[in-house]
Amino acid sequence: MKLTMRLGPRSYDIILKRGCLKNLYQFTDTTRRRVFVLTDSGVPAQYAQAVLAQCPKGTVYTVPQGEGSKSLKVYGQVLAAMLAAGLTRRDLLVAVGGGVVGDLGGFCAATYMRGIDFINCPTTVLAQVDSSIGGKTAIDLGPTKNIVGAFWQPKLVLADPDTLATLPPRQVANGLAEALKTGLIGDAQLFALFECPDPTQNLEQIIYRSLRFKKKIVEADEREQGQRACLNFGHTIGHGIEAVRGVSARRKTGLYHGECVALGMLPMIEDKALAKRTRAICRALGLPTRLPGDRRRVLAQMQHDKKGRGDTVTVIRVPGLGCWRADTIPTAELGTLLGLA
Ligand SMILES: NC(=O)c1ccc[n+]([C@@H]2O[C@H](COP(=O)([O-])OP(=O)(O)OC[C@H]3O[C@@H](n4cnc5c(N)ncnc54)[C@H](O)[C@@H]3O)[C@@H](O)[C@H]2O)c1
Ligand SMILES: [Zn+2]
Repeated sequence: MKLTMRLGPRSYDIILKRGCLKNLYQFTDTTRRRVFVLTDSGVPAQYAQAVLAQCPKGTVYTVPQGEGSKSLKVYGQVLAAMLAAGLTRRDLLVAVGGGVVGDLGGFCAATYMRGIDFINCPTTVLAQVDSSIGGKTAIDLGPTKNIVGAFWQPKLVLADPDTLATLPPRQVANGLAEALKTGLIGDAQLFALFECPDPTQNLEQIIYRSLRFKKKIVEADEREQGQRACLNFGHTIGHGIEAVRGVSARRKTGLYHGECVALGMLPMIEDKALAKRTRAICRALGLPTRLPGDRRRVLAQMQHDKKGRGDTVTVIRVPGLGCWRADTIPTAELGTLLGLA
């Protein structure tokens, strides 16, 4: 399956096809230019090697797995490695991995020599349904997520569902949370795929429908000046939980991004019956459905995240299946979202 992100001079193809990773050379010049293949230590090495095999002037660079690699330190190390590999303005960075490698690699490509070509090869469900398209690239500053970044569209996205065979089940569910988000805000048929006995049987259809919806939104609002904000559904609370309870360089056990987003979505669904159905889907997928006990810390983090961005914050609510609404509320009222007075 192929989708084309239509953004004028920044347009690109999104290929969703089993085995496509081995055919990167069919879509871009991998032989005459230097190719810097970025991956992380948790991504089975065979995927980066499959890309390297197509690039006579290729180098593989592996960062430690986990959110901790979306840091200024690792960002600097990758840039230094790109320079040492002799990458010029005409060369290419290929990210092979999940959202961490994609966000970090995209930001490196956006800033190295004021911007070089970037290709994203997502290997997690989360990255295949969501993070690999749309051009948002970023790293974190301490617990504050995605605060340093750039809009930098890839030249191509190659999503190979075969790579998902090695992904642990908890990571599959983690990624499905972002697809469930997409179903809730804009695609009732996608939501319905989650109410089948085993949604993982519909994985390719779920990935396709998620990408199709996000593509439409990004085409209409590339720089998030309006409707793209709907994709942040679940993320205001989600990011607060992630900062307090998420896995990080310091905290080895904790919640994953999609798990935090699932928790962040539930209080924002206004239709009680829909909230109940969503909770049942989350339970069946093994996603958490109870907000963590330390809600005041989550609130403090949410308020800290929003500090310096004004006295109000825009949150996304879902009044009914397949629709959403942006509400601007005073930062002081964030606590009510968490059920805190
Ligand atoms: N840019 C965007 O639009 C956007 C959207 C959503 C999320 N994100 C970001 O994405 C990140 C989360 O992404 P993620 O959930 O993919 O996490 P991740 O990149 O950390 O991947 C999860 C784990 O799976 C491992 N892994 C990757 N591919 C594998 C495979 N095929 N088989 C086995 N293991 C594999 C990784 O090494 C890692 O340990 C967060 O930083 C989040 O902020 C970005
Ligand atoms: Zn997300």
